[in-house]
Amino acid sequence: MADPQRHPFLHGLSKHRGAPPTVVVIFGASGDLTARKLIPAVYNLAVDNLLPADFFLVGFGRKPIPDDEFRTLAADAVKEFSRRELKAEVWDRVAAHTTYVAGGYDEKPAFDRLAAHIDEIERKLGREMQRLFYISTPPSVFAPIVVKLGESGLAARHRGLPHHSKVVIEKPFGKDLTSARELNATIRSVFEEHQVYRIDHYLGKETVQDLLVQRFANAIFEPLWNRNFIDSVQITVAEDVGVGSRGGYYEQSGALRDMIQNHTMQLLALTAMEPPGSLDAEAIRDEKVKVLKAIQPLTIGPAGEVARAQYSAGMIGGKPVPGYREEEGIAPQSNTETFAALRLCINNWRWQGVPFYLRSGKRMARRVSEIAINFRRPPGTLFAGETARFDLAANTLSFQIQPDEGLSLILNTKVPGLETRTQPVKMSFRYATTFGSNTAEAYERLVLDAMIGDGTLFIRGDEAEASWKLYTPVLDYWRSVGRPGMDAYAAGSWGPPNADAVLARSAHAWRQP
Ligand code: NDP
Ligand code: BG6
Repeated sequence: MADPQRHPFLHGLSKHRGAPPTVVVIFGASGDLTARKLIPAVYNLAVDNLLPADFFLVGFGRKPIPDDEFRTLAADAVKEFSRRELKAEVWDRVAAHTTYVAGGYDEKPAFDRLAAHIDEIERKLGREMQRLFYISTPPSVFAPIVVKLGESGLAARHRGLPHHSKVVIEKPFGKDLTSARELNATIRSVFEEHQVYRIDHYLGKETVQDLLVQRFANAIFEPLWNRNFIDSVQITVAEDVGVGSRGGYYEQSGALRDMIQNHTMQLLALTAMEPPGSLDAEAIRDEKVKVLKAIQPLTIGPAGEVARAQYSAGMIGGKPVPGYREEEGIAPQSNTETFAALRLCINNWRWQGVPFYLRSGKRMARRVSEIAINFRRPPGTLFAGETARFDLAANTLSFQIQPDEGLSLILNTKVPGLETRTQPVKMSFRYATTFGSNTAEAYERLVLDAMIGDGTLFIRGDEAEASWKLYTPVLDYWRSVGRPGMDAYAAGSWGPPNADAVLARSAHAWRQP
């Protein structure tokens, strides 16, 4: 059973959550993610006094970087990307325990040097620590790093310590079912599953965790949470940014791999899963896997349930922006989708016949991620349909994941006056209004949870495979047909016309979030 005192679904980042003495090794420490998310996360945990007293940070990468220079780079990253200002008295404590080891990701001698470096830290400290290996490199070297962690003995259980070595693995977890299975097999040849923390940073977002609290800590929702009352579910993860400097990566990925297969599927799983028997990580992940496995295979083809598109030039925030094919690092003839939309059916007792619509895209009208639960329309006996005065809307409960995090419910209400007229109104709760806006970032929680050993907010190997199983046939089909079926949408719009076709057969329409 998870300890309720420290469980993320019950409590915030509580100061009582003690992580054991830890050395965190970041592979790919000179990279973008390290600077933008990981170092700021470590710093903010330090500000909140959540790092263990004995905490050491070791950067690892091919580029030789002297310790001092790495500390300066890390401080610069905090200044540029942290949600809170760099305070010297806090940072100096982290910096004093921050070092760097240079070497290749598949070179045994480099890993032996890393092992010797950690041994030396432990020798000076006079005690052993848990070792948390955070792999933040391009995916081509995920497996070689894991193998070398095994060969060098770094992955082994510590003598006499209750804590194991742990490995945190960034996305993308494979590029299809075969590669995900291979990566899982490599990881399992070195680590046990409970030592493995596959990142999906959406699970670290406050509102995503709140989804389970809303569902299972309020008695009013669960009785309605099924095919008898819910008409459809829409999950939107829209970004207004383009591919930016990550063109090289994105060209090989596309919206289905980059966002749908992982982030939106996690949102779907938390929305649709059965109540877990407990808040234990395995209980929750078991339920997520069950619901992922209950999804009907997608119908693929010209009139299928999946649409894709690429953004063309358009306007964002009143400024012109280029089309995808004109972006840096993108092939002028690229067939990579920057938008995907689809309809999923979950074949189980609770959801049969309720379509789940998912969409995600870059360069859309605005940045918004939400889950909208559309309830069935009320019966038309009293108010609906009689005259235009009674314009009854379906009730919609929407979880706004970001920005402006919160929850809202559309209800039909009587317009004040002597005449009986109805109007849909929105009841809203906003996190920032109730709790203030400077909440912990996803990576803070995830780094802390990995240190503590709570896998609830990480993807288990079978979850990743269940999701890839669904999407690999779509990716294979798209690769086989090339360009046909690829729509265009203007940057700054809500997506292409073929996305509407995905819903039209059920007479549904996309919400304008
Ligand atoms: P980077 O491209 O910045 O690479 C990180 C580091 O890995 C580099 O600094 C480099 O260090 C090393 N590296 C780069 N290319 C190669 C290569 N071909 N072979 C071996 N090593 C290489 O990646 P990010 O920091 O952007 O991302 C790291 C991981 O996190 C990726 O898996 C990415 O998918 C994931 N991720 C990133 C996000 C982001 O916003 N950046 C968001 C979500 C996930 P050196 O040369 O010193 O070895
Ligand atoms: C990452 C994707 O996983 O999530 C990026 O690789 C995307 O392409 C990012 O921009 C979105 O994350 P967030 O937290 O800004 O919604």
